[in-house]
Amino acid sequence: MKNARTKIYEEASESCCIATLSQCRSCKEKNTCLILRDQLSFYNRLGISQIDDAIDSNSLNSIKHLWKDSVRTKRYDPSWNYSEDNTRAYTHAIHPYPAMMIPQVAGRLIDMYAKPKAVVLDPFSGSGSVLLEAFIRGYDSYGIDINPLSLLISRVKTTPLNYKDLQIELKKILKKASLITNTKKPNFFNIDYWFKPEVASQLTALQAAVNSINDKPVPAGFKRGKVKDFFKVVFSFTVRAASNTRNGEFKLYRIDDDKLKNYSPDAFEIFKKRAEENIASIAGLWEKYSRSKTKVNILNEDARHRTSIKDRKVDIVVTSPPYGDSKTTVAYGQFSRLSLQWLGFEGEDIDIDNRSLGGRLDVKNLHLGYASLNLRYALDLVSRADKKRAREVLAFYVDLNKCFMELCRVIKKGGMLCMVVGNRTVKGVQLPTDEIAADFGESAGFKHIETIIRKIPNKRMPSKNSPTNEPGVLGSTMTEEYIVIMERAA
Ligand SMILES: C[S@@+](CC[C@H](N)C(=O)[O-])C[C@H]1O[C@@H](n2cnc3c(N)ncnc32)[C@H](O)[C@@H]1O
Repeated sequence: MKNARTKIYEEASESCCIATLSQCRSCKEKNTCLILRDQLSFYNRLGISQIDDAIDSNSLNSIKHLWKDSVRTKRYDPSWNYSEDNTRAYTHAIHPYPAMMIPQVAGRLIDMYAKPKAVVLDPFSGSGSVLLEAFIRGYDSYGIDINPLSLLISRVKTTPLNYKDLQIELKKILKKASLITNTKKPNFFNIDYWFKPEVASQLTALQAAVNSINDKPVPAGFKRGKVKDFFKVVFSFTVRAASNTRNGEFKLYRIDDDKLKNYSPDAFEIFKKRAEENIASIAGLWEKYSRSKTKVNILNEDARHRTSIKDRKVDIVVTSPPYGDSKTTVAYGQFSRLSLQWLGFEGEDIDIDNRSLGGRLDVKNLHLGYASLNLRYALDLVSRADKKRAREVLAFYVDLNKCFMELCRVIKKGGMLCMVVGNRTVKGVQLPTDEIAADFGESAGFKHIETIIRKIPNKRMPSKNSPTNEPGVLGSTMTEEYIVIMERAA
């Protein structure tokens, strides 16, 4: 047996230990550890391991729980579609963000399971939709994300500010910005490619005016003012809207050259209009919740690792993880990059796509993918068409599985986990993420309760995914998503 890569696996703690691989000598020598053998064959088929092992051509037949024959409770329920509902209440629409969860879904899940004083967690909090829905119901919450832009939007979305103060501040900012003429524009890569010179100088002036805000606390007893953050969100919106990027794209694509010639956005106007709209949105939050004591804890952490949340702190998780790795699904990093660079972030902070689930192939922890037979079967099918794609897909699920382990630590016994996922298609294979999530959940300590299928309104879907991983080659749009509901076993 050749074992060129054995070093990447850790020493097995005992024979037949499926958590570790190659050094389980007794099993290997006796050739009796079927679990290990099966696992090695699986990785061989993906081209991950170079350990020669006879591939059992019947291995697929031995996998019983194919998603098509799933015995889990799963139902389509049109009452979850909310296709005609207003999704912009309060501050929900202060800044666009890819693949936002609609407030009605977040709110209904919280209402279904939250008991008095419940603590809510969204470990992929994005623009903070779940956090706002928890806040207006009076439940303390935690939100985790690796994207500084998402954390900024979430903070502002869930902080009632006095709209009258904001109106006064807006006037000051616009006046100040109009007087600034000599500020140096930021010096980040390709700034001139993405911004026309006159836009860049307007943005530079706005940025200086926003940064000069003196963010004093509001009167005693009220929430601390976060006026500067509020206007940073407006500024981020303006950066996107006034840039040379194409409208309606989450990835960075530049407007065609011939259209660009006649393109002359007015960044001051965009900023002013957006600020007025956001002030109007926050007025409702201020009027109803300015004296709220409800806490929203927003954490710049990684949901794959141990977080700062205490053991068994959380009663209910409502979340929607990314659909897949950022490179081939929604590129949160690309979406956020220009805003983040203007806001002064750099280095790791803007390297979001590599730090997202599946951003890197975590060879050391590949065994985590083994927790789902549905995943193994799906990967087997993908790997027949393209081994590299199969590895990329596996990398995403290995990361997703790590999150389940952390969720198991922080959720109370009897607490609920509601995860909204999409079953995207790769190389013609529809990946059964809802089943894979339930597999992972069950092996981490959750009990599957039910899966609700809902239709996704067209306008919210980020993009068609690229089944071949080639730019411009589109596959079918996902038209439905799955709300996988699990309970933390007692
Ligand atoms: C589908 S979006 C969540 C959208 C959110 N529900 C909303 O309504 O705006 C997924 C989020 O997961 C975040 N993310 C990706 N990898 C992560 C990780 N390892 N830890 C925490 N967040 C991560 C992305 O930055 C993105 O904001």
